[in-house]
Parts: sequence; C-alpha cells; structure tokens
Amino acid sequence: MPRQAYRAAIFHLLGDPPRGEYAADGVLVVEDGHVVQAGAWSDLGPRLKDIPVTHYPGALIVPGFVDAHVHYPQLDVIASPASHLLDWLSNHTYPSEARFADRAVADEAAGFFLDELLRHGTTTALVYPTVHKASVEALFEAARTRNMRLATGKVLMDRGAPDNLRDTADLSDSSDLIRAWHGKGRLIYAITPRFAATSSAAQLEGAGRLLAENPGVLLHTHLSENHEEIALVKSLFPDCADYLGVYEKFGLVTDRSVFAHCLHLSDGEWQRLARAKSAIAFCPTSNLFLGSGLFDMARARLHGIPVGLATDVGGGTSLSLLQTMNEAFKVGQLRRHMLDAYALFHLATLGGAKALGMDDRIGNLEPGKEADFLVLDLGATPLLKRRTAAARTPEEILFALAMLGDDRAVAHTYIAGARAFSRDAASTTAAARHTTPP
Ligand code: GUN
Ligand code: ZN
Repeated sequence: MPRQAYRAAIFHLLGDPPRGEYAADGVLVVEDGHVVQAGAWSDLGPRLKDIPVTHYPGALIVPGFVDAHVHYPQLDVIASPASHLLDWLSNHTYPSEARFADRAVADEAAGFFLDELLRHGTTTALVYPTVHKASVEALFEAARTRNMRLATGKVLMDRGAPDNLRDTADLSDSSDLIRAWHGKGRLIYAITPRFAATSSAAQLEGAGRLLAENPGVLLHTHLSENHEEIALVKSLFPDCADYLGVYEKFGLVTDRSVFAHCLHLSDGEWQRLARAKSAIAFCPTSNLFLGSGLFDMARARLHGIPVGLATDVGGGTSLSLLQTMNEAFKVGQLRRHMLDAYALFHLATLGGAKALGMDDRIGNLEPGKEADFLVLDLGATPLLKRRTAAARTPEEILFALAMLGDDRAVAHTYIAGARAFSRDAASTTAAARHTTPP
C-alpha cells in the first residue's frame, strides 16, 4: 500500500517503563501496513508533500486495543447471571460451547465475533475457542481474512466436563493445528488447557511437551479465579502445593504463558510467576460480574509481571476495552491503588502486547510497528464531547475516554494500515437495512 498520512491528536506509550507521547495536532504516516512515523503536524506536515493526508478533526488516534483474554463461543451467554464461576460454567457456558462441534456454527460466530472486535476497537486478541478443532479453524480463517494479529488454540479438557465437550490426552489435533496455522500471516498458536480442573495429568504433560517443542507458541489458561475452583484443583492434584504448582509440574509456567485472573495467589505464587516471566490477563468486568475477586495490580507491578487488560467475555460483560478500563479503575480504587489514564491505556495497548509477547510488532506507533490503530471520536456522545472540551491536559482527555467511552467512540479501526471498520459507514448500512421493507 502506498504511503498515507492521518492527521488528528495522537497518543501512544513508548518504552519500558512506559512514557506517554501526545500530540494535540499530530500526524501518523503509514506505508505497506507499517508505521513510518508519528509526531507533531508542525514537524512532519511540511515534509509530507506528495502524500495524501486524511484529516480527522476532533479525533484522537491511538494504537489498536489488545484484548488479552476472551472467549469467542460465549457471545450467546454473555449477560447470563450465576452465583459464581462453576455454576456459570455448568449452567450457561458448557451448553453453549457444545454447539461449536458444527463448523457452520463456528464460522458464523467467528465472523460475528471478529467484526464486533473491530467495531469495539480491538485489533488483537488472545482467544479461547472450544474443544472442537473446527472452532479453531473457523477463527483462524476468519482472522486471516481480516488480516488481524490474533492468537488462539484448541481448548484442552479431558475430564470434569460434559461428554460432548471432552477430548483425550492425545494432542494430535493440537499438533496438526500448530503446523497448519502458527506463524501463518499474523496468526499465533496458543496451547489452551481450559484450567487445571478439566485436564488430566496426562493431558497437561502433553501440553507441556507441545509447548517445549514449538518455539513462539503461547500457553493460555485460567489461574486462581474463584475459591471453589481453587479447592477443586487442590482435590484433583493433592501432590501439588498450590494451583500454580500444578501448571509448574507440567512445564506450563514460562515466559510464553498467559494466565487469566490470578485473583487469589499466595506470596509464593506471585514470586514464582515473576521469576518465570509469565504474564497475567486482568479481567475486571468478569471478576466483578462473577463475584470472583479484586485483582491486585499493585502486587503485579511490584513483581514486574506483565499485565494485559482483558474482557473475558462471556464472563465479562463488554467487548469494549474502554469500558473495561473503567472497571479496572474501580477495582484499583477498591484496592486503594489508583490507576491513572496512562496506566489504563498502557494495559489496553503496549502492556497487552507485551503480555502476549507481541510488543516488538504492535502496541504503539513506533516506526516499523504494524499499523493497527484507532480513530477515536472525542465527540461521540454529548457528555464525552462536553467533558473532553473542558479537559486541560492530555491525561484528562484520556481519562474521560476511559470512564465515558465505549464502542460509540470508535470512529474507525485500521488493520495493518487498511481501514477495517468505520462507524458511520456501518450505521448507514444498518439504517439502510432498517428502511428496506420486509
Ligand atoms: N475457568 C474455566 N473456564 C472458564 C471460562 O470459560 N470463563 C472463566 N471466566 N473462567 C473459566
Ligand atoms: Zn476466561
């Protein structure tokens, strides 16, 4: 694709420890799907002589959001009440996931899911499919069609689940899928034992072997979300000292591992996670909805553990990373650890990219990065418009977006430099559909 430029306010985070870079009147230059440069219009504008410039007045360009943990087969059970995690899984989740044995069901859901991600400004995600091979193939194919950077892999569960959702300790489907999809375009494979409670020792051992044999492949699972779950894992693996110890026993705690939740870790578990350089997916809307607990962000920071923000839909209640920032902030307040606007945007962009081992390719708008970015509309709602107009600093604008924003604020989503979603085009299409007589 030829060189293109986009003019608007720009915000992104650079480096480690991260520092924010903001240009009130900025420009992002993109070529062949990658960032050439981002900076102030006053510096770069005069040098962009023959390059077409798209101007988005009243908008803010940010890197695409990263959802560090989400389940695509759970869209039909989002917003299903349950007293706690294990009831929610048995009563709502498992029956819905069983339908994904059918490739046509998986294809339709995968397409809908990825279009919803783009509409919400999420350009990369680490995704649970189901135990069915077809559910993985459907998602990889749909992501490839949209050229999205995405990681997923067959869910492993060979016990403690209904018959129609159980597999075996034979991991040949997973091996086949790794060969077929890992590293193809922008796709990454993630070995995905559902959680320790639904895998036998033999299956976890196989998962560890597969992880060791396949460089660049991720390990993705749940850890320490709910007290009943923790007790169940303890009863199933009595020889392991704690929950993390089960995963350690099978070689699953590595610098390529992403653990969702991590709400009730012991001191030792925190230390061992940090030593292994594993990452955590922080899922505030899910943790509040299922009453699972309050994530300790201060502790994760103290240990230097990479943390990405995650919706965990369908346990979570929104696909919007902006809404998820809102609830992450409130969890922080209850923990007496205030997250500022930069910290919230870091969790959803560069922090998420680092948690997924992708920060060399995505997460900010440094030269050479893949050009996944959003055009956020600061006037998306009357209140957001009023509040951002009254803002005196970039932090105030970003914080208002995190508290008041949602999918309505996403005007355009670009994938590798190409426009993949436009809100106004979508609403025009929807309106046109609406006015078509039945
Ligand atoms: N633990 C095991 N499976 C799940 C799931 O589908 N959602 C959540 N939130 N936790 C889990
Ligand atoms: Zn989950």
